[in-house]
Amino acid sequence: METEIIRIGGAGLDGGEFTEAEERALLHAGEIIRAGGLVAFPTETVYGLGGDALNPDSARKIYAAKGRPSDNPLIIHIYRFEDIYGIAGQVPEAAARLAEAFWPGPLTMILPKASGVPPETTGGLETVAVRLPSHPAARRLIRYGGGYVAAPSANLSGRPSPTAAKYVVEDMRGRVEAIVDGGEVGIGLESTIVDLTVDPPQILRPGYVTEEKLAGILGRVELDAAVIAPGGGEAPRAPGMKYRHYAPRGKLVIVEGEPDKVAAYVNGQAAQERAAGCRTGVIATKEMHGQYGADVVKYIGSRDDEETIARNLFAVLREFDDEGVMSIYSESFSSQGLGQAIMNRLLKAAGHHVVRV
Ligand code: TXA
Ligand code: MG
Repeated sequence: METEIIRIGGAGLDGGEFTEAEERALLHAGEIIRAGGLVAFPTETVYGLGGDALNPDSARKIYAAKGRPSDNPLIIHIYRFEDIYGIAGQVPEAAARLAEAFWPGPLTMILPKASGVPPETTGGLETVAVRLPSHPAARRLIRYGGGYVAAPSANLSGRPSPTAAKYVVEDMRGRVEAIVDGGEVGIGLESTIVDLTVDPPQILRPGYVTEEKLAGILGRVELDAAVIAPGGGEAPRAPGMKYRHYAPRGKLVIVEGEPDKVAAYVNGQAAQERAAGCRTGVIATKEMHGQYGADVVKYIGSRDDEETIARNLFAVLREFDDEGVMSIYSESFSSQGLGQAIMNRLLKAAGHHVVRV
């Protein structure tokens, strides 16, 4: 299949108006979705792979394009709040409060599903995941695409989620009808998922909307045990969280401890592995960047600036692949606030391989 690349940019992405040509292009992309095709598009979190959420064939095509198991349910994206009533069988008052506080934005809510949502979209579950993204191109596309767009992250199953169009092109060219290129995303980690069908509500996937922020609105909120369980022993409640995810091709190990000891350990390992002919890499903070002697040292941001670390994480993992790095060491991060989401993704990428020095 020939994949059309649709470039948009400029004022529309900054909250201003899209040009007429961009509007036409987004309308055309929306028509592809209405006709049952797939369009990858930017959101504020990561790029999504969109299809008509109410069309079972579109859901099947999404699974096929990603190489994703079809028991892994899809998030349905809407562009205005009232459309939630079309796909959720019940909208608790807590959902309205969360929407008021965090929508449009990087939050997904799990609610009981309405009968019109095909089981193909929800992986056979009786619940549905709903999100109203803030990215202007995403909202336009959802509207032009019929109002209900199912979209997983636009990566091949198992690979890091794409934070720029070039990564979508890498994974999806030839597999989808079109890719909307809106440059780099702002957040870089997928939305927070909160399950409102249980009491107290449960965070199934941490993200930019942190536990603290959710607790501020909901009062009580719990974290799915699998999100924090060392070794990933618990079965997560979001089906997609059970798969090895975000993984670079190389082996990834998280090294925890005093900065000097971490550097000494990493440098020792890197020297040995290099001697054995293996290219090594390090995911380093600004503070420690100069301390490492591996083949490729990637600077991920300053330790105090978690937003930058979040935005860079998936791109850095992909770059190691491009540079043929087969053994990667990463510093560890705090698990508070946004750090909870960063560590959740990093641990999954590492298959929970952590070394304490
Ligand atoms: O930021 C995001 O959420 C991005 C962008 C494109 O919006 N999308 C995304 O979708 O991350 P995906 O498919 O890669 O991740 C969706 C996660 C999976 O772990 C899936 O199992 C879970 O949401 N999920 C979806 N529906 C669910 C449901 N009804 N109950 C529990 N978990 C659900
Ligand atoms: Mg994903």
